Amino acid sequence: MSRSLGTVRRASMGRDGLGRLLAGRRHRCHDSRVTITPDDPRRVFAHIDRSDLAPEIMAYLETVATLPEIRAWRAVADDLMAVVPGLRVLDAGCGLGDAARDLAAVVGPHGDVTAIDLSAQMVETARSRDAGAGITYEVADVTDLPYASGSFDRTRCERVLQHLTDPDAGLAELVRVTAPDGIVCVLDSDWRSVAVDVDERGLSDAVLAAMNAISPQPDLGRTLRRRLVQSGLVDVEVRVHPITYTSPVAAAAVYPFADEKIPPQAGLVPPEHRDRWFAALRRAEAEGTFWMATLGYVACGTVPETAA
Ligand SMILES: C[S@@+](CC[C@H](N)C(=O)[O-])C[C@H]1O[C@@H](n2cnc3c(N)ncnc32)[C@H](O)[C@@H]1O
Repeated sequence: MSRSLGTVRRASMGRDGLGRLLAGRRHRCHDSRVTITPDDPRRVFAHIDRSDLAPEIMAYLETVATLPEIRAWRAVADDLMAVVPGLRVLDAGCGLGDAARDLAAVVGPHGDVTAIDLSAQMVETARSRDAGAGITYEVADVTDLPYASGSFDRTRCERVLQHLTDPDAGLAELVRVTAPDGIVCVLDSDWRSVAVDVDERGLSDAVLAAMNAISPQPDLGRTLRRRLVQSGLVDVEVRVHPITYTSPVAAAAVYPFADEKIPPQAGLVPPEHRDRWFAALRRAEAEGTFWMATLGYVACGTVPETAA
């Protein structure tokens, strides 16, 4: 990412996004010996409707969807999915429905797009934004889809499996509801591939390790090829899209560990590192030396003819 995109704009997006989401939340201080359960408040994407954070999460997803890095990542998936007019497409874990709306424009009036999400609030908001796209919206769990086998020509799942305790269960359902010769496409993160350079050696490793301890699937991206092959898909193709930042202020719009406005009690940055970490980020911002790189994964595979 270049600075030309506007550090100031990103800073304000950060305040309205995940920063606000976590600001003021009282969590346990991070302790890598503590088991993170699905109900942990830091795993809010797994249970949005049981939190009171849906507006903040929606603001965060809106911000993320506008970022050029994310749009470029989605374009990689669009290329591999090869959606054409007339196809039946499922977007599982649709969030605000923006990707589903883009797909509806491609499949046209003779195609059909279905968008599901575990969160009823998310589905309600996506439906309110349909604007004539004609999408079918449903509250559903990707690990237990309410569709007959082979119902779709393409299934898509973006930044959802990383939140599941059992991502293979979600993948198995995507494969089941996809027709023979249809394509399953997963976009997801690999949090352990995040690399951050600051001028104190080892500091970013400690902070990132704490963040990864919160995630149920911190290395999901690198496991996708294996998971898709083992799920029975053929012609599996995995691509990685590099995502880079040269400003910690810009990175904070997406990555909470870079956001100093998130208070210590959120438990994201280990307390013993917090002061030195944010001082290092401020120095890097002032000196223009910051570097962060990570990989957005896209993994696609085809349902074999014999799987019907
Ligand atoms: C990070 S958001 C991504 C939303 C959207 N795919 C996007 O890329 O903007 C994760 C979404 O997955 C949904 N989700 C989490 N667990 C789910 C499950 N088991 N089944 C379906 N959706 C789920 C959440 O409610 C949330 O909307």
